[in-house]
Amino acid sequence: MKAPRSARRDAAPQTGRLPLIAGNWKMNLDHLQAIALVQKLAWTLQDHGYDERIVEVAVFPPFTDLRSVQTLISADRLPLRFGAQDLSPHASGAYTGDISGPLLKALDATYVIVGHSERRSLHAETDQVVGAKVRAALDSALVPVLCVGETAEDREQQGASAVPVAQLRAALDGVPADADLVVAYEPVWAIGSGQAATPEQAQEVCTALRVALGEVLGAEAADRTRILYGGSVKRDNIADFMRQADVDGALVGGASLDAAGFADIVRFPKHVTR
Ligand code: 13P
Repeated sequence: MKAPRSARRDAAPQTGRLPLIAGNWKMNLDHLQAIALVQKLAWTLQDHGYDERIVEVAVFPPFTDLRSVQTLISADRLPLRFGAQDLSPHASGAYTGDISGPLLKALDATYVIVGHSERRSLHAETDQVVGAKVRAALDSALVPVLCVGETAEDREQQGASAVPVAQLRAALDGVPADADLVVAYEPVWAIGSGQAATPEQAQEVCTALRVALGEVLGAEAADRTRILYGGSVKRDNIADFMRQADVDGALVGGASLDAAGFADIVRFPKHVTR
């Protein structure tokens, strides 16, 4: 059963930005496991009285699962969105092994993660490559979820915000002011470590990112663009992140592979009053 309207208004964030809880499955789950997880997630959310006007939910399965996830969401009209974890900077051509924006758009993907720290470090993706991927996503009418974040060493040497802000500025080069994008602040030291940033640390960097968005794309874009926190987000810590004025959601890794745990993260408004 849904909460009464007045209670929902109390619990909802006051920013005007629709919170987004996104599950990055990374290289986990085959297409059959993907179908099982999406079904269970949808049932669990429904049991919880999930209302997509209050929180948006998106999943980011591996490429091989996308067609199955698309078919399930569309056939059962599930209130979920999905995206890919990466895309090529090129639209088509001789790029063996790569997947382009037009191929993802043909599957009705809404989002695509760009510049995740695992791709920056394991695939040597530079800021230039990440910027080209952001533009490729926008060219295909996909919403890029642009990931930025500092290593422990960066933080020690340059402070918390310098590297994430520099990565954001580089990736926004050539991006129009009216671009629809999401930014994800993921401190590298918090990813998969079980050691999440504190809510205050997340807020500090997300504020700096919003200021930079304003400087590069203008005040309207800064006000409208959602900034997520990612790195060891769990059902136990999500509410504290969501109380922060500049944190508009979460990019969840490990905890998104469990339907009950992920659905509990989506339930954060029940635990948040700002
Ligand atoms: P964890 O939630 O497993 O720390 O992963 C975060 C992440 O990298 C999401 O993109």
